[in-house]
Amino acid sequence: MTTSEQHPTSTTNTTTLVLGGTGKTGRRIAEKLTALGRPVRLGSRSAPIPFDWADRTTWGPALRGIDRVYISFQPDIAAPGGADTVGAFADLAVESGVRHLVLLSGRGEPEAQDAEARVRASGAEWTIVRASFFAQNFDEGEFLGPILGGEVALPVGEVGEPFIDVDDIADVAVAALTEDGHTGQVYEVTGPRLLTFADAVAEIARAADREIAFVQVPLEAYSAVLAEHGVPAEVIDLLSFLFGEVLDGRNAHVCDGVQRALGRAPRDFSDYARDAAARGVWKV
Ligand SMILES: NC(=O)c1ccc[n+]([C@@H]2O[C@H](COP(=O)([O-])OP(=O)(O)OC[C@H]3O[C@@H](n4cnc5c(N)ncnc54)[C@H](OP(=O)(O)O)[C@@H]3O)[C@@H](O)[C@H]2O)c1
Repeated sequence: MTTSEQHPTSTTNTTTLVLGGTGKTGRRIAEKLTALGRPVRLGSRSAPIPFDWADRTTWGPALRGIDRVYISFQPDIAAPGGADTVGAFADLAVESGVRHLVLLSGRGEPEAQDAEARVRASGAEWTIVRASFFAQNFDEGEFLGPILGGEVALPVGEVGEPFIDVDDIADVAVAALTEDGHTGQVYEVTGPRLLTFADAVAEIARAADREIAFVQVPLEAYSAVLAEHGVPAEVIDLLSFLFGEVLDGRNAHVCDGVQRALGRAPRDFSDYARDAAARGVWKV
């Protein structure tokens, strides 16, 4: 993808900084903005103007000449200290002349809701996109390996999750970044129905025409396997928090954020699975 940057000839900035611009949501948002003719700057460690959440000296240069920012935090919006870091970034963005911040957040996670509060308090116009579990975790994220291996073993049982298609998140974020009427909105975005993780894996197996097992395992056993595979302790802690606490039923309901923001229904998981399978992502 190519992105364009306009070097402003007047004092009006028009460029959007898309953080995580090569990731699951950011890549799509950058592509959609570019297709609309909007100047985009990618924000990531490998971008031409590098941006690193862990190195605050990189934030100022990335924000220079920027009007709006899409914020997707790394490693995870619910990570300890995430709210303070996002808050410090939002404050610097406002000082740098940014007008509108769009934050990607998570549901039912106190640290994520703290980060939202920090963005709301920054003085910028803001939009919060509070997303359910991404469908694309199964083909672009951490579950791709287990799916290809034929068995997904997770410490989660019968709880329902309204998996959301990341393309819907991107459409909501792009609307917030380009249209009037989204300032001050919290869009809680989910897919249209609840599925258990076992249901989701079964749909993927059907779409991919393969046998893929789902196995529920104890949380301790899951963490031990991750550690054996060299997964960093902070990532294991985040996954333990997600499976041990957040997936306790608190998020087992659908929300209308996609409908409110876009005036249309969210995509269904089976459409996601059919399209991803057609691209061959789950072929072995
Ligand atoms: N996955 C879910 O189900 C889910 C649900 C709700 C909310 N969320 C939230 O979504 C966010 C992640 O969004 P995503 O899935 O679109 O991203 P992602 O796919 O994890 O994208 C990774 C992107 O972040 C960049 N990156 C990695 N480390 C970085 C760092 N230290 N500083 C700056 N950039 C860095 C990467 O580029 P470089 O490698 O070049 O830096 C890449 O562009 C998290 O805050 C998570 O909490 C996720």
